[in-house]
Amino acid sequence: MNTIQEEILELKARMGATILVHNYVDAEVQDIADFCGDSLELSRKAKANDAETIIFCGVRFMGETAKLLSPDARVLMPSKDAGCLMADMCDPERIRAYKANHPDHLLVAYVNTTAETKSLVDICVTSGNAERIVKKLGPERPIMFLPDQNLGANLNNRLGMKMDLWPGCCPVHHAIAASSIEAARVAHPNAPVVVHLECRPEIVAISDAAVSTSGMLKFVENSDAREFIVGTEAGMIHRLECAFPDRKFYIIEPTPICKNMKKITLENVRDCLMGHGFEITLPQDIMETAVRPIERMLELS
Ligand code: 13P
Ligand code: SF4
Repeated sequence: MNTIQEEILELKARMGATILVHNYVDAEVQDIADFCGDSLELSRKAKANDAETIIFCGVRFMGETAKLLSPDARVLMPSKDAGCLMADMCDPERIRAYKANHPDHLLVAYVNTTAETKSLVDICVTSGNAERIVKKLGPERPIMFLPDQNLGANLNNRLGMKMDLWPGCCPVHHAIAASSIEAARVAHPNAPVVVHLECRPEIVAISDAAVSTSGMLKFVENSDAREFIVGTEAGMIHRLECAFPDRKFYIIEPTPICKNMKKITLENVRDCLMGHGFEITLPQDIMETAVRPIERMLELS
């Protein structure tokens, strides 16, 4: 533990704060977390939270989800502008127009959406529960899945469904190329390839597993392999190495990096605890409407 990490733990204890960290955030921040996990696990932790203050080390939509599920807590982000490029691909006006033109459609939103987008949809999913929930929704009503066309297409393929797909994606995962997977397989012939469900279907097709970030931990736990090729944001490697110190993990090249996740640093986490954080506040009407699809998700998952 370095000095700044010790300082953070001391400040946190004095303030009675909880530090939640997403699996993609840098290693040294993961190491001071009260809890580090995927979007679904972090939502559950936020809902069960009883601390007065949550320091959310991740991107803004995650902090908003924490605020929606823990409305009495003060949710602070260490960085003002850690957004999500995929969440920004959903313009609320376009969603309203879509709803007006497709009144029969159920709107299923990936949790990687702004609170305003959530206020317009029927149910949320994360990559950790999407398959289970979409399967439960079944074919009764036509579905628009937004905003990740890759996750949506992967679900359509797995479940034999025909959901309409919003034209959005995570640029970090969309950029992962088949040539990167093939090169990694040549370099590490005994390593299975595990990728994130936000990858394009053609990448999922040539991989051994496509799951959420925490699904990767489960995949490794249940595998006899000693080494693994990982196709997701680079922060995940530290998470895997800490959980499985006796196994080897190779990130694909070029290394996928989410610049927004990297905006969370030990320095700005400490500043946040010293009163220089950015509090998540949402209008009351959004607080009331945006929480419903997340609660529905938690009931079904
Ligand atoms: P999960 O951690 O839920 O798999 O989500 C990945 C992601 O893109 C978060 O930004
Ligand atoms: Fe958004 Fe992709 Fe970054 Fe996740 S990795 S926060 S989906 S841009």
